[in-house]
Amino acid sequence: MRAFLIDGSGDTLERGVRDVDLSATSADDVRVRIDYSGVNYKDALVAAPLSRVRRAPRLVGGVDAAGVVTESHDPGFPVGQRVAVHGGDLGVGRDGGFAEFIDAPARWLSALPDTLSTRDAMIIGTAGIAAMASVLALEHHGLDEGDVLVTGATGGVGSLAVTLLAARGHAPVASTGSLDAREWLLERGARSVIGRDEIADRPDRVLASERWAGAVDCVGGATLHQILRSLRYGAAVAASGLVAGTDLVTTVYPFITRSVALLGVDVVEAPAATRDRVWAALGEAAATVDFNALVDREVPLEGLDDALEVVARGSSRGRILVDPSAR
Ligand SMILES: NC(=O)c1ccc[n+]([C@@H]2O[C@H](COP(=O)([O-])OP(=O)(O)OC[C@H]3O[C@@H](n4cnc5c(N)ncnc54)[C@H](OP(=O)(O)O)[C@@H]3O)[C@@H](O)[C@H]2O)c1
Repeated sequence: MRAFLIDGSGDTLERGVRDVDLSATSADDVRVRIDYSGVNYKDALVAAPLSRVRRAPRLVGGVDAAGVVTESHDPGFPVGQRVAVHGGDLGVGRDGGFAEFIDAPARWLSALPDTLSTRDAMIIGTAGIAAMASVLALEHHGLDEGDVLVTGATGGVGSLAVTLLAARGHAPVASTGSLDAREWLLERGARSVIGRDEIADRPDRVLASERWAGAVDCVGGATLHQILRSLRYGAAVAASGLVAGTDLVTTVYPFITRSVALLGVDVVEAPAATRDRVWAALGEAAATVDFNALVDREVPLEGLDDALEVVARGSSRGRILVDPSAR
């Protein structure tokens, strides 16, 4: 089959479209014919030279995919079932979704709601699953009326979070380093758009003014510190990402004087019950959300080299889809 292979086994990294054999399925693997995959920030990290994220010297990239089951011994995923595939070490330590087929353990498959096409599922992708998981975590914590901050707003997680918060009746405020995308973000449902350095005031004080009723953060680092010091009393931030850094230098004051909460969000190892809850909520959102409006571009496997560069630079707007059957 045709696949986008990342090969770091030699002196220099090689990546490109190759003919590769499908890895032999183990008894619990399900084979899926891929309709679409998507390009995530993690894909760019895996495909980088000297990657510290990639856990195999040579593999097919792509941390997620959506398509139709073609071979299965699992009664939960019969042949013909439409599924999304994501999680575990898919596209990180074993062959992933930048290919015509994928073999994956059933625990990494989710049956798609009838309201979502396989294309919708990959516009959503791992980024959208993280975005919806973040929104559900905030709602579970208790999300009062008011502005809900979304950082990295033009990216995959950010743009989906803006869209999904608006669809669920909240008031997302988009923070972005790409202010030329202001109109685009307003059209996706943002109530207003601010720059990356406008999240919190009073830089000379430990705590900033209480501004945010909640926050979805996929940026991490110093941005997460600014969010914590500007959350309203009792509010929470759902943190899923690290594009600005992995270190969190902050104080305990927001926690012990404003009772704020830092909610960790992971969807890579999330159990089936969590995945099902998130996909059900995404299926409901399909009634009001135009997922197509979140597509930055659609590329064949041959377009992945450039697309990965775009995502590595943080300059995509929404989601990049991959169609393995296109030339
Ligand atoms: N926890 C999980 O299960 C999970 C699941 C999915 C993704 N993630 C993580 O979420 C993060 C975002 O993933 P993604 O696929 O949405 O990536 P993405 O599409 O590349 O979006 C990231 C966005 O962050 C902003 N950004 C980039 N570099 C920045 C910097 N140095 N400082 C501040 N902002 C910066 C940019 O938006 P603006 O230009 O609009 O600011 C960029 O578009 C990644 O860290 C990814 O690993 C985690």
